[in-house]
Amino acid sequence: MIHNILNKKVFLKEDIINILSIEDENDYNELKNKAIITLKNNVGDKVFLRGLIEYSNHCSCDCFYCGLRKSNKDVNRYILDEKLILHQAKWCAENGYGSLVLQSGEIKTEAYLSKIEKIIKKIKENTVSDKLPNGLGITISLGEQTEETYQRLFYAGAHRYLLRIESSNQKLYKKIHPDYQKFENRIKSLKSLKKIGYQVGTGVMIGIPGQSIEDLAEDILFFKDMDVDMIGMGPFIASKNTPLSKFIDENQNEKRRIYQLTLKMIAATRIVLKDVNIASTTALQALYAFGREEGLNYGANVIMPLLTPMESRKDYYIYDGKPCIEDNVDDCFECIKTRIESSGRKIGLNKYGDSKHFFKRNYS
Ligand code: 5AD
Repeated sequence: MIHNILNKKVFLKEDIINILSIEDENDYNELKNKAIITLKNNVGDKVFLRGLIEYSNHCSCDCFYCGLRKSNKDVNRYILDEKLILHQAKWCAENGYGSLVLQSGEIKTEAYLSKIEKIIKKIKENTVSDKLPNGLGITISLGEQTEETYQRLFYAGAHRYLLRIESSNQKLYKKIHPDYQKFENRIKSLKSLKKIGYQVGTGVMIGIPGQSIEDLAEDILFFKDMDVDMIGMGPFIASKNTPLSKFIDENQNEKRRIYQLTLKMIAATRIVLKDVNIASTTALQALYAFGREEGLNYGANVIMPLLTPMESRKDYYIYDGKPCIEDNVDDCFECIKTRIESSGRKIGLNKYGDSKHFFKRNYS
């Protein structure tokens, strides 16, 4: 009986496998209810916004699944102008977003990193107001960098970092990355980030060719063992010009299976980890129009509306069918508000919406 499993205090791998294997409609409802109760009891039911600025699509990595991989010569590479970013950041602060995410491919040149460092400092300075006495909250997602770089960007004012493990199964990780991108280095990065004092986010793709339900259950246990603060997960979606695109099954049933599996992963992560922040990702919406709302209904509490300027959106094409490419920033805000309200939730306006788990693991 799923009821008994969902109400356990400690979750073993078998329990998580059972949760991820749910198929019956009543069981789905019970799962959703349990996820929402866990959400309310541990982090409250507000949804926090982080405006997502895709700062650059240059990348020195060659991940077999990603449209921005360096071997893909079909990408119009860009780096956003500092002025444009500061303008978007100001918009973000004025519209009550509270936080933004600066994301880019993995670029390690000094010229690039010092530019980012400067921008972080300026965003902090320019967005201080009565509502945001310390300026916007800044999350960065710039791939694997040295510990010194992480430290430097933390001093500049970033306080959260996203770095997905993609899969915690080392064999699977090896299958989807070139040899020089090592699993151990990613773990080392996650540990450095925690040591420095970032709120650390990780996550996985769901539906990678060759990935089992057992792998996904292990992923949740990995999140727990690593004691991370934030989780972002999304379905794996074909991206043309990548080695993994040929493994994608275009079959509608398979698409539905991966979508449902992603929702079950969100709920199971909420139930097992309880007080972390969980994002309902854009990739969910790429599969089904109401995917992001559903993510909220299964226990997510963070949404990252796209703030990348219109001209560059089409060039940050990580996977095929990425939504919101034609919308402008105001459209995205209106759309997100409606989506959140339709899930019966409220936005945590002008708040960082930091991970409760972070404070618990550090100060209690
Ligand atoms: N499908 C889904 N997600 C992808 N990402 C990269 N390529 C794909 C894809 N084809 C995700 C990775 C990465 C994040 C920025 O985008 O998980 O960490």
